[in-house]
Amino acid sequence: MGVGRLDLYHQPAAEVTAKMGHRILVVNFKNYPEVLGEGSLRLAKAAASLNLGAVEVVVAPPTPMLYAVTSSVRIPVFAQRADLGEQGKSTGATIPESIKASGCAGSILNHSESRIPMDVLRAAIERMRSAGLISCACAETTEEALEIAELEPELLAIEPPELIGTGLAVSKARPELLTETAEALRDVGYKGTLLCGAGIVSGEDVSTAIALGTSGILVASSVVKAMDWSSKLRELGAAMSL
Ligand code: G3P
Repeated sequence: MGVGRLDLYHQPAAEVTAKMGHRILVVNFKNYPEVLGEGSLRLAKAAASLNLGAVEVVVAPPTPMLYAVTSSVRIPVFAQRADLGEQGKSTGATIPESIKASGCAGSILNHSESRIPMDVLRAAIERMRSAGLISCACAETTEEALEIAELEPELLAIEPPELIGTGLAVSKARPELLTETAEALRDVGYKGTLLCGAGIVSGEDVSTAIALGTSGILVASSVVKAMDWSSKLRELGAAMSL
């Protein structure tokens, strides 16, 4: 029961997030060779064809593939970043209005591979909201997560950069980071959804992350580089609903 792309168009981001439920699996395609060009379509279609029950799968292909992907699948599609260029006379910026017009539901912001200053993040989240888009803002530490929580992104992902792409899961290597962040966000009344990422490769990594207080994951290499995309996604998704 995924949230269809067409449903997302006409609703405020907060409602969409509520509809997305409490289990979210965001697949960041990054710029791995497997997903450049047509590969993005194949991975997005593999993700869209799965029925993972209450788990909402979101795909985040490279910017040049956004419209092709949203035109081909009916699951939420995120950009990997959004820029604050002006709507009109600006060149090369991936602005929220363009992301929206491409049929996307939202964007990852402030990923550790694409960091932006806090004031820019604040403006980006506000502009994303005005454009009717969901923000998935990333934090590297609990302190940063707390700062970002004040900006009220719909999704907040905690990702220690040193574990990204290592195969050593944040949920196993830094369990205290997840419990502390979840607790700190609860204490300040953050109403969005906490995700985590970095090094997640197995269903066990996912179920541990959920047990530690997160509501979903942000994952890249273990899915993109899997021999069988569908079975890896099924493994990760199934572990969320246990
Ligand atoms: O955005 C997801 C991310 O940075 C985690 O990457 O390859 O460790 O799953 P990976």
